[in-house]
Amino acid sequence: MLKTLTLTLVGLAALVSAQLPADDLVSSLEQFDDISFGLYSGYIPIKDTKKKLHYMAALSKRNPKTDPVIIWFNGGPGCTSMLGFSQENGPYSLSDDDTIFRVNDYSWNNEATMIYIESPAGVGYSVCGDAKECAFTDDNSADDNMAVVLSLFETKFPDFQKNDLYIAGESYAGIYIPQLVKRLDKYITDNAQDPNVFKPALKGFMVGNGVTHWQYDAEPAAIEQAYWFGLVDDALYNQMRTCDFTYYDFDGDTKLNQTCKDLKKKYDSYMNNIQPYDLFGKCYFWPTQKGPQLINGKMVDLADDASLLQERDKYLRVVDYANFKYRDRPDYQQLKDAPSCGTYDGPLLDYFNKASVKLSLKIDPSITNFKLCSDINYSKNRDGTFAIYQQLTQPGSKYRILKYSGDSDGVVPTQGTMKWIDQLGLKVTKPFRSYDVGGNTAGWVVEYENGFTFATIHGAGHMAPQWKGQQTYHAIFNWIQGQEL
Ligand SMILES: *[C@@H]1O[C@H](CO)[C@@H](O)[C@H](O)[C@H]1NC(C)=O
Ligand SMILES: *[C@@H]1O[C@H](CO)[C@@H](O)[C@H](O)[C@H]1NC(C)=O
Repeated sequence: MLKTLTLTLVGLAALVSAQLPADDLVSSLEQFDDISFGLYSGYIPIKDTKKKLHYMAALSKRNPKTDPVIIWFNGGPGCTSMLGFSQENGPYSLSDDDTIFRVNDYSWNNEATMIYIESPAGVGYSVCGDAKECAFTDDNSADDNMAVVLSLFETKFPDFQKNDLYIAGESYAGIYIPQLVKRLDKYITDNAQDPNVFKPALKGFMVGNGVTHWQYDAEPAAIEQAYWFGLVDDALYNQMRTCDFTYYDFDGDTKLNQTCKDLKKKYDSYMNNIQPYDLFGKCYFWPTQKGPQLINGKMVDLADDASLLQERDKYLRVVDYANFKYRDRPDYQQLKDAPSCGTYDGPLLDYFNKASVKLSLKIDPSITNFKLCSDINYSKNRDGTFAIYQQLTQPGSKYRILKYSGDSDGVVPTQGTMKWIDQLGLKVTKPFRSYDVGGNTAGWVVEYENGFTFATIHGAGHMAPQWKGQQTYHAIFNWIQGQEL
């Protein structure tokens, strides 16, 4: 009790003396009973465009004046960072099969100021005012993120300009983050001599189950992972190994002969009812037909096409949440429903579409249909971000990097991550070893020269902070503090 009181007083004192964006302060938010730490929601316009990105900031509960700032991105491309805020590492979370938000004991704002950016424009609550400005690539989306991050510190949170800064995220953010860091690094270097230019105190970045190198990540790794998890038999695996699945998320079946195409079809049929985001997880199947039916234990009448589509929007299918796996494949349109197993996020979608919630969060009135993942115009680059990792891990590297991986993810599996890390050719400084949380093995960690660390989160799927909150929290904050996991 005494401890809580002291913390609150420290928090308030810090708030009173800080320059904070008063217009963006969320004074109350339904189901979020205690937001006295300071919750902010607002927009950052991108200069000379009609685009503006939505951000949410949850100030550190400990000491926002001195605690690090972590900027978080979800992936897609096209998915909202409100997923991170509301299910993974925010102050309250809405769990699978639950209908309301509950306090998240492992919120990252326990000891860091968390800022969630919904990127690119057109995603979630972020606004794309002119479709012509919203055809995105890995490069121009990173340019926008760069502009927004600088503006965030210059216009919204000048008091945090000197705080340690980390960029973090998951999935397709494995592309966003290194691209952003590359730009921040150039900006910091270019302006090193000018004391009048604000330069962020960038210390490093953390990427969870992020795509990086398309030769290894996603499909080739998924097949390996499925085999090692005992989900496909030796006979099928041994035949499939001879087929070329590299860059599959660009090329689809075009590099495969008929034999390999048939093997892939058989493999897909094995995997169709397995939860791709967590190979041990529960499957949620979306409705495929109109009419009255039982959905998650409730009778629902999907009378017309519109209500059928609306209901389907409540599921995160791989084609939505990990849109990178399908969007460039020649057979994209036919793949919209494959596999049939995803997650169910109806309560979340209902919440963020509520007029009262949008009012509390000061959401632009043009946002009439908030989606968890939007089908934006985005073309991804075959080169991925591997070369950026190579540049950032040269001797004398300026930034620390934590690559963490929920090891039961079937979408961006650990298998692929380990392969491209191996290709970096960095010297191991502390060998692969397990780390414990609460007396149990929570994962494995290995440290390399030049500031690079790799850690697994054992038994977590794609959204590691959501499904192994305590273990992921342990890994993140011990790493930030430079302590042994
Ligand atoms: C996406 O943007 C590109 C570049 O502006 C454009 O050529 C293409 O038609 C757009 N695609 C869609 C589906 O709107
Ligand atoms: C198809 O491709 C695989 C892998 O390259 C090869 O092992 C196999 O012999 C090919 N099959 C046919 C019928 O060409």
